[in-house]
Amino acid sequence: MAQRKKVRVQTLLEKKRAGEKIVAVTAYDYPTALLVDEAGVDMVLVGDSVGNVVLGYESTLPVTMDEMRHHLRAVRRGIQSALLVADMPFLSYQTSLAQAIENAGLFIKDGAEAVKLEGGSSPILQVVKGLVELGIPVVGHLGFTPQWVHQFGGIRVRGRRSDEAKHLIEMAIALQEAGCFALVLELVPEEVAALITERLWIPTIGIGAGPHCDGQILVLHDLIGMFPGWSPRHAKRYAEVGQLIRHAVTTYAQEVREGKFPTEEQATKMAPEELERLHQLLRSDQG
Ligand code: KIV
Repeated sequence: MAQRKKVRVQTLLEKKRAGEKIVAVTAYDYPTALLVDEAGVDMVLVGDSVGNVVLGYESTLPVTMDEMRHHLRAVRRGIQSALLVADMPFLSYQTSLAQAIENAGLFIKDGAEAVKLEGGSSPILQVVKGLVELGIPVVGHLGFTPQWVHQFGGIRVRGRRSDEAKHLIEMAIALQEAGCFALVLELVPEEVAALITERLWIPTIGIGAGPHCDGQILVLHDLIGMFPGWSPRHAKRYAEVGQLIRHAVTTYAQEVREGKFPTEEQATKMAPEELERLHQLLRSDQG
């Protein structure tokens, strides 16, 4: 396959200007990073959703910098062309600008090309400004921001009410002014996403935010059907990889138990003269 052109921060801005949709997806390990990059996505996010979909936590809140860095490094090794963004986990950027710089800097050293952080309140805007002034590109994230799950009282669409929607629009503009080069909009009504998208010159990337955003992002495990149990309404399943894995492992277990695996095809045989020699050696040891 011909080598794709490297996607950079500027590429996403150019795509918005050209009216070309941006395709983004999450990845958490080397093999899926290779696959999504080969599939030609523009942006890969090592999301803190790794906490829910890979590590089995109930929310993203327990995810640590060490866990994120472990997954980021694996994904880095699999990505050639897509823009690689790392999600700042809860409490890695909220306590001070110095802490945010140090943690975002560690991600950049690990190979991320940008970081993402949640919210648009004034402390977050200060962090965005501080990072961008030091050359660390930032993706913003508004709407339902999972690290705010307790404040929001659960997983809820944000911006249904006009006052809340107006606040979202103001925060989106403030994040752009603070220096974000793209903005994720999660679980917001499509009308609000459209109003934000038309007001910004940076691209919006929606998840559960309707069709009017400049791009879309999905959690890989939702789109490939790899997450057992509940999956969100906005996450269209393009495959049932979970069912494929269950079927493959059940068949393997059955074949082992019935003596059907391995067969000669999966085994290695010694050369007959070596086997004969081995038997001689064993006999001479005994005798
Ligand atoms: O962590 C994540 O996967 C995300 C996406 C849902 C945008 O933040």
